[in-house]
Formats: sequence, C-alpha cells, structure tokens
Amino acid sequence: MKALLGECQSGIYIGSMHKARIKQDRIAVIGYGSQGRAMGLNLKDSGYVVAIALPPKSKSRRLAKKDGFKSVGTISQIVKEADIICFAFPDYLHGRVYDRDIRNNLKKNATLLFLHGFSVHFGFVKLPKSSDVILMAPHAPGLMVREKFLGDRSLSAFYAIAQNRSGNAANKALHLAAAIGFKKRNLVKTTFELETIGDLFGEQAVLCGGLASLIKNGFEVLIENGVPAVNAYLEVAYQLDQIIALIKKFGINGMFDRISVAAQLGSIGTGPYVVDRSVKKRMQQKLKEIVSGNFARELNSLSKSHVKSLKHKTRLLSNRQFEQAVRKFNITISKG
Ligand SMILES: NC(=O)c1ccc[n+]([C@@H]2O[C@H](COP(=O)([O-])OP(=O)(O)OC[C@H]3O[C@@H](n4cnc5c(N)ncnc54)[C@H](OP(=O)(O)O)[C@@H]3O)[C@@H](O)[C@H]2O)c1
Repeated sequence: MKALLGECQSGIYIGSMHKARIKQDRIAVIGYGSQGRAMGLNLKDSGYVVAIALPPKSKSRRLAKKDGFKSVGTISQIVKEADIICFAFPDYLHGRVYDRDIRNNLKKNATLLFLHGFSVHFGFVKLPKSSDVILMAPHAPGLMVREKFLGDRSLSAFYAIAQNRSGNAANKALHLAAAIGFKKRNLVKTTFELETIGDLFGEQAVLCGGLASLIKNGFEVLIENGVPAVNAYLEVAYQLDQIIALIKKFGINGMFDRISVAAQLGSIGTGPYVVDRSVKKRMQQKLKEIVSGNFARELNSLSKSHVKSLKHKTRLLSNRQFEQAVRKFNITISKG
C-alpha cells in the first residue's frame, strides 16, 4: 500500500551548533498553561527577554506575574514587539487567534515557533511569507520540561523547519532548543506533517485512547469475575510504568527476556488473540481519518462549550470503580 505520508530523513539531529547569539531577540510566549509556563520560564532563565501574551480575562495572568514576568499583556500588544512568537496555547485555537490578534501585528521577519505541527500542517495558520517557521515539539508535558531543565537533564523533542526565509532557521531552532533545555543529541528531526500525524495517531490509538480502553476492559473482566477492584487495578495498570521502562530501555524483545516464563508463555497466546489483526485494521481506518483532515476539522471547529463537554465524555473511557481503586490505593500507600 502506498504510504499515506510524505517522506522525511528521520534520525537524531547531529548538525553543528552555530555560534551566533540570538538572545537579544524578544520572545512572545502566547499561553501560560502546561507548555507555556515551561517555555516562558526556561527561556527567561536562559537569558532571553520573554513576554507572556494572554487574552484580557485570562486566568493565567496571575500565575505569570507571580512567576516573575514583568511583561504580561494582550496578544496584539506583545506580538507587535516580539521577534519570536511561541504558540503555547491549545492547537484548535491557533487559526482563530492568529487571524484575529497575530497576523496584523507581526513584525516583518518575526519567527514563528510551534510546539505541535497541527495548525500549520492542516493550514489553519496561513504562514506569512517573510517568517522562519520552526517546530519544537517536546516529548513530555510542560511540567517535565521545566523539571528536567532545573535538574540539568535533557528531554527529547521533535524538531522541524517549515519555512527558512532567513537562511538561518536551523541555527535559530538549535539555539532555542538549547535554551528550552533540549540537548542537540536529543533532537529528532522530522517534518510538520509527520509530527502532526504521528502525534495524533499515537495519542488516539495507543498512548491515551487505546491504552485507556485496554486497561478498562482488563479491569472489568477481573472485577466481573470476583477480583477486588484494588487488586484488579494493581494487576492491569499500576505496574505499567515498569513494563514501559523495560521497553524504553531494551525494546519489546528485551522486556520479554526480563519477565517470568509464565508471562512469556501467556503473552504468546493471549496478546495477539486479544489485540488481533482486526484492531490493526481499525487503526488503519483511524489513521486515514487523521491524514484526510477529518479529525482536524472536527477539532478546529470546537466551541468553548464543546471543550467543556469533553471532560464529561472522557469519563466514559474509564470505570468508576477503577477511579475509586486508584484513590484508595494512593491513600493506603501514602500512609506508609
Ligand atoms: N501539554 C503537553 O503535554 C504538550 C506536549 C507537547 C506539545 N504540546 C503543544 O504545546 C502547545 C500548548 O499546549 P498546552 O497543553 O501547553 O496548552 P494548555 O495548557 O491547554 O494551554 C492553556 C493556556 O492557553 C491559554 N489560552 C486559552 N485560550 C487562549 C487564547 N484564545 N489565546 C491565548 N491563550 C489562550 C490559557 O489561558 P486561561 O488559563 O485563561 O484559559 C492557558 O494559559 C500545543 O501546541 C500543544 O500541542 C503540548
């Protein structure tokens, strides 16, 4: 079957770091949530002049001021003075906010820095011709990006250039990466397209949606057959981080080499039976919907009330007894 996606020379970035300093550039971080706070604080601590841009009634303004940012203003005010604009607010709002508050206030040659390729790849943000456009997508939530920076340890991130109008976009990207806390050896080169499609598919089919369904089903089978809820939670979810740690270090083969013979034998018969080829077929279907832009259009048309209702709908992906078991076990172990 023909590949759905364009090609990219994949691999860890190993280019040499340009010496030019760009710290005098003023950076507007739009949004002060998970990634915005980490980006703002890390860039500021690395010596950049950072201003935080938020809607007039934003709840996040107080936190940004409390964290020591002197310049906290509206998006149109802050963008006018910025050399680099970091899109650190929800992807489904990028197009609307760009058209209303960013496009007409952009300095000529301002660099656009995205943390996800979504709004550029699907064309919701129409790129200005004179800008460099960079992607720096962390492989972790903002809190970890900040923690690793403070602990002087590096995380990995995807990195891509959509437009290189200055001829210097790659160097800018590397300087920004270093200032955010991503070491050069931990940058994985990609394209906006591959990052967007891979990220959406990964979180929907495997990491978040797929995993939640697998855990929920496993949990329900155990409790419906008499296993107490806390025990079932411990069996199907609690130990996942240890299995993932093994997979991350040694691969799936290495994980199997390090588990019991019973787990090995049982996995051979049960794994591909429970998660069979029909699952892969449905994954292929979901990937097509992502690539076609159907999912992107749905996401991009969300209203505030839709977003609020999502919280309610995601509750259906878990099980009340599972959530109670998590709380109960956490209380038990917190007592030592
Ligand atoms: N979170 C992650 O783990 C993660 C990982 C990798 C990449 N990313 C990418 O990082 C970017 C930011 O994601 P995030 O998870 O950090 O977002 P987020 O936490 O949901 O962003 C919330 C922030 O955006 C502000 N905001 C809300 N509406 C806004 C508007 N119309 N204009 C400007 N700011 C607005 C919020 O202000 P209020 O407090 O007033 O609502 C809040 O400060 C996205 O591109 C995302 O894909 C995220």
